[in-house]
Amino acid sequence: MGKKGIFIVIEGLDGSGKTTQATLLAKKLSQNHNIMLTAEPSRGKIGTFIRDGCLYEEKRLPTEAEALLFAADRIEHMQKEIKPALDEGKLVICDRYVYSSLAYQGSAGLSLDWIKTINARALQADFAIFIDVAPERVLERLQRKKSVMETLKTQQKVREVYLKYVEKGELVRVDGDKPKDVVADALYATVLGLLKTFKGFVS
Ligand code: TMP
Repeated sequence: MGKKGIFIVIEGLDGSGKTTQATLLAKKLSQNHNIMLTAEPSRGKIGTFIRDGCLYEEKRLPTEAEALLFAADRIEHMQKEIKPALDEGKLVICDRYVYSSLAYQGSAGLSLDWIKTINARALQADFAIFIDVAPERVLERLQRKKSVMETLKTQQKVREVYLKYVEKGELVRVDGDKPKDVVADALYATVLGLLKTFKGFVS
């Protein structure tokens, strides 16, 4: 039997507020839905290795190896957490998914087709949203130690890939260059609109 839940992905640049927005969205939707809020890199073995092991310059791995690790983490995350939650009829909100690999590892020079191939076994999201904030603004917001992904040029390149998928209609853009509550309301309205298109999903 196919899955019963709905799988929503939230994407954005580092420091775009997407984690805060995903949390606010989960809170709002939890009034009427059974929610699972999760994120990638995941908290599983591979995700923990990625967070501890390769996001900073001194520990950097070849980009291909990074892409394979993100894809491997995704499979583990999908099989152990996302799929079971969807099978229970939950609405799963995932903070980053395949589009992060396309945007980050793609803008680092890897072929988008190859990234899609190594992610072919990952369950497809029902819809994905890109919270769009200017790269200059996200860098101002990042006070902590910046990972290798977090330079202006990198963020600009990453945004370009995300926008390509917005143009293709695969990602829905939400303007993130607004006060937090305004973005949260826009995101919630967008998701409610998209949920209405899912016949058979009980809200
Ligand atoms: P986070 O800041 O949302 O926790 O993500 C950690 C970093 O991992 C962020 O700089 C984006 C990067 N990343 C990739 O490069 N490729 C991926 O597939 C994922 C999931 C994250």
